[in-house]
Amino acid sequence: MKISQRAQQLQPSATMKVSAQAKQMIADGIDVINLGIGEPDFETPKNIEQAAIDAIKSGKTSFYTPAAGILPLRTAVADKTASDYGLTDLSAQNVAITTGAKMALYSTFQTILDPGDEVLLPEPYWVSYAEQIKLAGGVPVSVPVGASFKVTPADLAAKLTNKTVAFVLNSPENPTGVIYDQQELAALNDWTKDHDIMVVTDDIYGQLVYNGASFTSIAQLADQLDPRIIIISGGSKTYSMTGWRMGYVVADEQLISKISAFLSHATGNPTAVSQYALLEAFTGNQDQVEVMRKAFEDRLNTIYPLLTAIPGFDLQVKPQGAFYLFPDVSGALKISDIATTGEFVSRLLSEAHVALVDGSAFGVKNHVRISYATDLDALKTAMARINQFMVQFKD
Ligand SMILES: Cc1ncc(COP(=O)(O)O)c(C=O)c1O
Repeated sequence: MKISQRAQQLQPSATMKVSAQAKQMIADGIDVINLGIGEPDFETPKNIEQAAIDAIKSGKTSFYTPAAGILPLRTAVADKTASDYGLTDLSAQNVAITTGAKMALYSTFQTILDPGDEVLLPEPYWVSYAEQIKLAGGVPVSVPVGASFKVTPADLAAKLTNKTVAFVLNSPENPTGVIYDQQELAALNDWTKDHDIMVVTDDIYGQLVYNGASFTSIAQLADQLDPRIIIISGGSKTYSMTGWRMGYVVADEQLISKISAFLSHATGNPTAVSQYALLEAFTGNQDQVEVMRKAFEDRLNTIYPLLTAIPGFDLQVKPQGAFYLFPDVSGALKISDIATTGEFVSRLLSEAHVALVDGSAFGVKNHVRISYATDLDALKTAMARINQFMVQFKD
């Protein structure tokens, strides 16, 4: 048997691993609260499910579709992006539909990177970026950022080399929930323009913003889409459609035609029935989007004060988007005399029956990621359990 070097260096997704462990404990009858998971807990809105059922019954989902997706869906994504972002001249030719935003990112890195090309990743970064960049022969370059968790041009400049070709921006960000404002984005845009660096902007949490915060994408600073900028998004988070695997890339036509060629060999078309579901998500009734957003907002507002009251959990800035909290737990490690965040997370799971993710999976030490994509009662119980776990060390 032989395993390629490429596969050997691959780390499994830490968030999926924690979730699988928690799910196994639950299956074994243990009352675990899983805050490791990165998916909304709501069922997909009924109108979307119904559109999928209708599409199956019509017979049209039995067959291959074009690799970059059906034309009405590509057009709907182009139209919605144009209107949400205030961009002119976007058409179906600027859109490729993919098997989740994960494949949108994967096909992008495969299309823009040559061996040795460096990609700047502000810390903390979502787990799959680094692995996908490596799979494309590129080199992920971690960029340390200040306490605000927002990268600045100076932070990026410190890691710039003649091999830097791209920068990945995720706002609202997984795992910190921070959102960049227009001024911060303009500074980053100018810097990347000056150095001719491409920007992969992962806007998947763009509609999940809270307490009056607003989302701006770096792609919307100009009237027309800059060919250096690649927008990644999808239906998973906004429409609670993780299982349907629907994502997309919006970019320059030339790039999209290469991404389509890549997809035609990698996945073929994304699942036909899911495309009809996303088409309804984009063109149908939007009421449930607000219902789900509001539920996340309530959860954030309830658990933020509970979390920050736990001994040793420090989170100065309240998140504004996505559905995660990323507290510094250096204090908790000290109080509990536990050496590493990995061990801390593992003891929380086995003793307090709460699953969190070790922040080192996102490139940052002494932090944990807590997802609040779980119902409010379970969240409150989880906070009480973590508090109880910490209080025992104070006696
Ligand atoms: C920042 C970010 N980008 C992309 C994705 C992938 O989403 P999808 O389920 O559409 O593949 C996720 C999912 O957790 C995410 O957090």
